[in-house]
Amino acid sequence: MIELLICTRCKASLSCEAKQRDESGDIFEGILFCQKCNQQYPITNGIPRFVKTENYASSFGYQWQIFRKEQLDSHNGTSISAERFWSETNWTRDELTGKWILDVGCGVGRFLDVISKSKAEVAGVDISSAIDAAKANLEDRDNVHFVQASIYDLRFREETFDFCYCIGIIQYTPDPPKALSLVAKTMKKEGKIAVTTYERKPWTKLYSKYWLRPITKRIKKKSF
Ligand SMILES: C[S@@+](CC[C@H](N)C(=O)[O-])C[C@H]1O[C@@H](n2cnc3c(N)ncnc32)[C@H](O)[C@@H]1O
Ligand SMILES: [Zn+2]
Repeated sequence: MIELLICTRCKASLSCEAKQRDESGDIFEGILFCQKCNQQYPITNGIPRFVKTENYASSFGYQWQIFRKEQLDSHNGTSISAERFWSETNWTRDELTGKWILDVGCGVGRFLDVISKSKAEVAGVDISSAIDAAKANLEDRDNVHFVQASIYDLRFREETFDFCYCIGIIQYTPDPPKALSLVAKTMKKEGKIAVTTYERKPWTKLYSKYWLRPITKRIKKKSF
């Protein structure tokens, strides 16, 4: 995974200093540093971190830490996420074999759960602490890798990924066209990107989340 990451400032490779390893030998705590400009990035809980801990998506992290497993097929015994994934991307499991796949805005990893059953390597990226929930959910999958980063500041080498999907995230970002052009840079020339957003119809404005939100966002958060 570290070989795919670069310093965005000077595009140089990153080196790693391990401070603590887990039982499987993976780095649990450490520092990534740029071989050219010496910029440093922490690895904590086995996850390279390229964002400040607080950001505009921190409520997502809060939500996903509380409802960590509910949407995972492997936890709830349904195939809702799998059906949604294959119908929204239009990909087949066979075409993913041996490929590198990027999930931007992975949340708690409901689609990583689906795709990790393919013989592919998958990188899950999220800006919020949802990435820790995703890791806790999918720790047993050797082919899934986690990075905390923003879609606006992806630290992958250009032309790394064969496939990328952004499901239900792009509409939350401040500048969706820019976000997509940055994702495209990480993709191989013949790569495939699947992007889906939620439907907006006149009646979707009536959904409870819209009229409850002005109230719920003022409620004091419980600390976990
Ligand atoms: C509605 S959730 C969708 C999660 C997942 N794709 C799913 O469908 O279950 C949106 C996710 O996008 C993440 N997100 C928002 N802005 C982001 C950004 N600029 N870069 C990366 N992730 C972002 C949030 O932290 C959150 O986990
Ligand atoms: Zn650098």
